[in-house]
Amino acid sequence: MKDFLELVVKEVVPETREAKTFVLENVDGTSFNYEAGQFLTLVLDYNGHEVRRSYSMGSAPGIDDRLYITVKRKENGEISRHLLEHLKPGDIIRAVPPSGRFTIQMDVPEERHFFFLAAGSGIVPIFSLIKSLLKAKPRSHITLLYQNHDETTIIYHRELQLLEEQYPKQFTRIDLLSHPLLHELPARRLNNGLLEQLVGIHEPRPFTHKKDKPATLFYTCGPPSFMRMVQFTLRVMGFDEEQLFKEHFTIPVLPPPALVIDPQPKKVQLHYNGKEYEYNVSYPTSILQAALDLNIELPYSCKGGRCATCTARCISGEVKMSNNEVLTEKDLEKGLILTCVGFAATDLRLELGSL
Ligand SMILES: Cc1cc2nc3c(=O)[nH]c(=O)nc-3n(C[C@H](O)[C@H](O)[C@H](O)COP(=O)(O)OP(=O)(O)OC[C@H]3O[C@@H](n4cnc5c(N)ncnc54)[C@H](O)[C@@H]3O)c2cc1C
Ligand code: FES
Repeated sequence: MKDFLELVVKEVVPETREAKTFVLENVDGTSFNYEAGQFLTLVLDYNGHEVRRSYSMGSAPGIDDRLYITVKRKENGEISRHLLEHLKPGDIIRAVPPSGRFTIQMDVPEERHFFFLAAGSGIVPIFSLIKSLLKAKPRSHITLLYQNHDETTIIYHRELQLLEEQYPKQFTRIDLLSHPLLHELPARRLNNGLLEQLVGIHEPRPFTHKKDKPATLFYTCGPPSFMRMVQFTLRVMGFDEEQLFKEHFTIPVLPPPALVIDPQPKKVQLHYNGKEYEYNVSYPTSILQAALDLNIELPYSCKGGRCATCTARCISGEVKMSNNEVLTEKDLEKGLILTCVGFAATDLRLELGSL
């Protein structure tokens, strides 16, 4: 597999005042292999530095001819603003090949009910999933609860309307606007009570038997506070963890590592910011967590193997990673590892910074 995809921007489509869709193609003309709900990690040269940001694909394989991502401006966000202001047709960008786990379970029974809960740019992977489901699972029912500020901030507004018209029996869309411009529309922000009420109204009871495994599946993507509220409410309502799927744009949650590593303590010698540190780490504590527990302030962000903020170079020893969605084969050949999902299989010598 190639280290990076080389992509050309074919078209830029304004979605809202704060969001644009970028249609991308492989420079060499080859097609993409991806699943609905996955994301690309862009590898950008920004002010002389390499930066990586992940963006979900709003397009759906087998449905949309062209692959696209949709970027929404994050308040004071450096890279989102940069992309929205400067990325134009003809530009060439690099990306780590598509990855991600926010995908459709194709083995679920046909009659399942899918609830999608999106806020703002959280609609991007959800839009891809909805399109795929409507085509692949025609007997399933889909309800979308979509939170936005007002009518003008709704990404994919027209495309969603078209899906409603095309699939009136299978697809129900409920827009929630916290500050609607039209006065006749109610101002609604999803909270515990409203979510409980809407799920109660729209969940097709015949498919759900509390004693048996409930059939409804929930897919959530939005800002952290929205995600927390949704997960909490659904758990309180009695839905199982295995019915709840989520994509974190900021803090990914990964399953616990399942590596075969001797749990005896290993010595980590670490060079960072001109200082030498030495500490012990035992599996299943990660290299990063052991340092943080000792108040050694190492850099990190997602703590989930997706953002590369915690990257280190392994000078000697062996590191096993439980997950890696951002480093390329070439990075690995250079000895780069992710400390947040990295576990010491032997004593280690690591170097952080200016890699
Ligand atoms: C799986 C996934 C899918 C996403 N899909 C979308 C999408 O479809 N549309 C959309 O608008 N946004 C999406 N995002 C968010 C996007 O990656 C950026 O976080 C967002 O655009 C803000 O970046 P910024 O530089 O403008 O903001 P800033 O505030 O400047 O940066 C955000 C902060 O997050 C951290 N960070 C986020 N991503 C990375 C990374 N890859 N590497 C290193 N640090 C990182 C940085 O520490 C930074 O401080 C997604 C994020 C993830 C993890
Ligand atoms: S902190 Fe994001 S990959 Fe480690």
